[in-house]
Amino acid sequence: MATFKPTFPKNFYWGGATAANQIEGAFDKDGKGLSAADFVEYIPKEERTKDNAMEITSEQIRKTLSGESTGRFPKREGVDFYHRYKEDIALLAEMGFTAFRLSIHWSRIFPNGYDEEPNEAGLAFYDRVFDELAKYNIEPIVTLSHYETPYGLTEKYNGWAGREVIDHFVRYAETVFTRYKDKVKFWISFNEINVITLSPFTGGGIVSDREENPVQTKYQALHHQFVASALVTKRLHEINPEGKMGCMLARMSHYANTPNPEDVLKAQKDNQDNLFFTDVHARGEYPKYMERFFIENDIKIIKETGDDEIIKQYPVDYITISYYMSMLSSSAPEGERTDGNLMNSLKNPYLEASDWGWQIDPVGLRIVLNDMYDRYRLPIFIVENGLGAYDKVEEDGSIHDTYRIDYLRKHIEQMKEAIGDGVELLGYTSWGPIDLVSMSTSEMSKRYGYVYVDKDDDGNGTLDRKRKDSFYWYKKVIASNGEEL
Ligand code: BG6
Repeated sequence: MATFKPTFPKNFYWGGATAANQIEGAFDKDGKGLSAADFVEYIPKEERTKDNAMEITSEQIRKTLSGESTGRFPKREGVDFYHRYKEDIALLAEMGFTAFRLSIHWSRIFPNGYDEEPNEAGLAFYDRVFDELAKYNIEPIVTLSHYETPYGLTEKYNGWAGREVIDHFVRYAETVFTRYKDKVKFWISFNEINVITLSPFTGGGIVSDREENPVQTKYQALHHQFVASALVTKRLHEINPEGKMGCMLARMSHYANTPNPEDVLKAQKDNQDNLFFTDVHARGEYPKYMERFFIENDIKIIKETGDDEIIKQYPVDYITISYYMSMLSSSAPEGERTDGNLMNSLKNPYLEASDWGWQIDPVGLRIVLNDMYDRYRLPIFIVENGLGAYDKVEEDGSIHDTYRIDYLRKHIEQMKEAIGDGVELLGYTSWGPIDLVSMSTSEMSKRYGYVYVDKDDDGNGTLDRKRKDSFYWYKKVIASNGEEL
């Protein structure tokens, strides 16, 4: 057999990805309002469950607003990117980044979400950040909504449960599309849009105990996000014909636990449940398989006249995914389970797992890329991938994160293979290039970065930045366009 050596295309984007609420801090500076992320308290590991770490009750909101809560809110602090963005971007540039994914904290621009006029100080901050990126020729990839629904919208409409939020989101999007027309080309409407069905507060600012039928509500809210996403795609193309709108899915790919057809069927179903979100965004319609799911689960999506047409007319320009792990499906779910990104899974005996139980599966990434490219024939951008791990700072200040290099190397190798298979891959932004606050656990000790940030889970530390071994490794990867791994 002849050998075939795939390579990365010349204009491939290399970089890293972040979210405003996990890096910026300055949660109440320069007119910013509260957002969903500002309500998330740090819960020590022993007391943490998926629900109490990510879902927020009416009682917690009351306690937070009245000042009765005694806890810490790490997503209010981030890692102070708000004041250190110049230093941080210089570090990214030193690694040779050609792309940087960040989100705009919606409540910096519209403090309550429903305000008539935007907050100039918030707009000016992102001008400064985009200008700094431009200085180094780093392309910004900007997420409009990364778990940052303004609290005003929760108070008034219970977040995305209210259809009114569509209009507020469109106004926000128009504002930033116009303002940053010459600075930003790549946009993403909703980070991991599937999260709204797993954690409605995180994904949509919805307090579930305020709803009579929370299951119905989350799918209704998702419908509002689908319509909003299509509308902002339309507006982006009108305001900036060069602009590209992407959707974003936390890709949770499932393998059958055994060759038993019942397990294979279960895996197919689980994959459909996950691909549903990109199916709507890319194909412009609700897939047939969801009709049965809605009937069986007593869910009735209320659509206004024109909703289906809007979704059909304005599909996304490209697909983005986060990919951290794969999962197993079984028709008889027995056996040992392990944690994962927002969902847990049966343990796969062929895979190792991270310190947080997420199953490491680089070949799975090649499978995912091939499947998704076959399904949609749209360019794909991997906008999140990486290893959350404990790091140790040696006495001389060095950090030998070989485990992280190993994880990233294996995933990049598989990306290259997928390109060889014919997948049109635009770029790769690994998660958290500078250590940041964990989304699911609000820990600092779950680190993804090439750059170490001196801060611990209790909020102590100087916030100083240090280069890890992976910093120098990734720099070489980028300089060689993925040849030197
Ligand atoms: C993704 C999110 O699900 O995974 C990020 O988009 C998040 O916001 C990342 O930080 C890693 O998850 P975690 O829980 O380890 O921070």
